[in-house]
Amino acid sequence: MRPEGSAPSARDLLALSLGTTVDNAGPGAEEASQSFRPRRLSPPTGERWHGTPHQVRIAGCGKYLPERVLTNHDLATFVDTTDEWIRARTGIQERRIASTEETTSSLSINAARGALATAGLTPDDLDLIIVCTFTGDYGGMPNVASVVQHALGANRAGAFDINAACSGFVYGLGVAHGLVASGLHRTILLIGAETLSRYLDWHDRTTCVLFGDGAGAVIITGEATATGTSTNRPQSGGLMSLVLGADGAGANALLVPAGGTRLPPSYESIDARQHFIKMDGKDVYRFAVSTVPDACAEAIANAGLTVDDIDLFVLHQANVRIIRAVVEALGGSWDRAFVNVDRYGNTSAASVPIALCEAVEMGRLKPGDRVLVAGFGGGLTWGAAVIEWSPFAGLTNPD
Ligand code: COA
Repeated sequence: MRPEGSAPSARDLLALSLGTTVDNAGPGAEEASQSFRPRRLSPPTGERWHGTPHQVRIAGCGKYLPERVLTNHDLATFVDTTDEWIRARTGIQERRIASTEETTSSLSINAARGALATAGLTPDDLDLIIVCTFTGDYGGMPNVASVVQHALGANRAGAFDINAACSGFVYGLGVAHGLVASGLHRTILLIGAETLSRYLDWHDRTTCVLFGDGAGAVIITGEATATGTSTNRPQSGGLMSLVLGADGAGANALLVPAGGTRLPPSYESIDARQHFIKMDGKDVYRFAVSTVPDACAEAIANAGLTVDDIDLFVLHQANVRIIRAVVEALGGSWDRAFVNVDRYGNTSAASVPIALCEAVEMGRLKPGDRVLVAGFGGGLTWGAAVIEWSPFAGLTNPD
């Protein structure tokens, strides 16, 4: 039984700090009860596309950050922490927090619209939508990608989610690249999105200061290769290499213990605060600085490049100390490292696409540049890839 008269909930504390009331009705509960009429499928286009190899490129990108800013100083009013501690240990100054009306799908949809605009495409052009996330709208299903598909009106698109925690977007890049390169799909919307604030224990200062909400999206598309022969290394644009890895032995270092089949929701699991992110920060730090440099070095070598050929390092924005350690271990130049963790905190699967998009908007990532991306986190998982950046055909800045 739940004990009476417990302390204010974490959401109450956050609402207090943000000056809002928290709506406890589940997102989408209303839609779920509405009746549904199946839609007719579009007729086949008859295009010669399937099964022929294609050269892949990133054709557009978009990002969305919730308006609400939660600074370290704001946090210090209801968490036992200080701005100095957070800045010194992580480089974070502030993060964005989704409003009570926002969900992972709504963040995704905003980022997706920007990506479509920069690519000069419409939702009808999409064959597939992939959302990389571990903070879905619902408790398991439907996936976020289906909610996005419906909201965009992407009537030709399939939809699924990928969960590889903070590495998710790099895993998604590999999946999307493979589907387009093989000719099975032409145009894929790949999104990284998280509403981590709903999974944070605002009583736990060792985790709640680190994370934020947001979404980033890219369009991955292809053109038939001139020779009609398959190639893993496009002549210009797209993924030049991909390294993925996992070590499930370290899973307990970063996890949400309850809510799945292992520990279904119960009064006990809620009272023990097991539905929130738990982390052994030191273990995760050691894992990141020992594994990620090797994965990055392998991705650079597999692309046939050296570290000096990398124009921009877009590493997962978990902690500026980790980003610096990885770039130093690679022998890279710090002025080529992209950093926005100071403004957004760790947005998990969203951090790499948000950073890519922001780098484009700031003029730090241009067509022809070689960018190293890397993700790492829960699982434990990691991924690194080298991308040759491509020009966009649509708006240069959808904002
Ligand atoms: N504010 C103030 N003090 C805090 C604090 C906070 N938010 N969080 C922890 N502390 C305290 C600890 O209680 C500890 O106090 P003690 O020495 O009295 O016991 C002290 O600060 C040092 O804690 P420690 O955990 O040793 O700090 P750290 O130097 O390892 O830094 C992290 C903590 C979380 C910043 C660091 O381990 C890290 O970045 N890990 C990787 C996390 C990460 O990136 N996760 C996501 C991967 S996707």
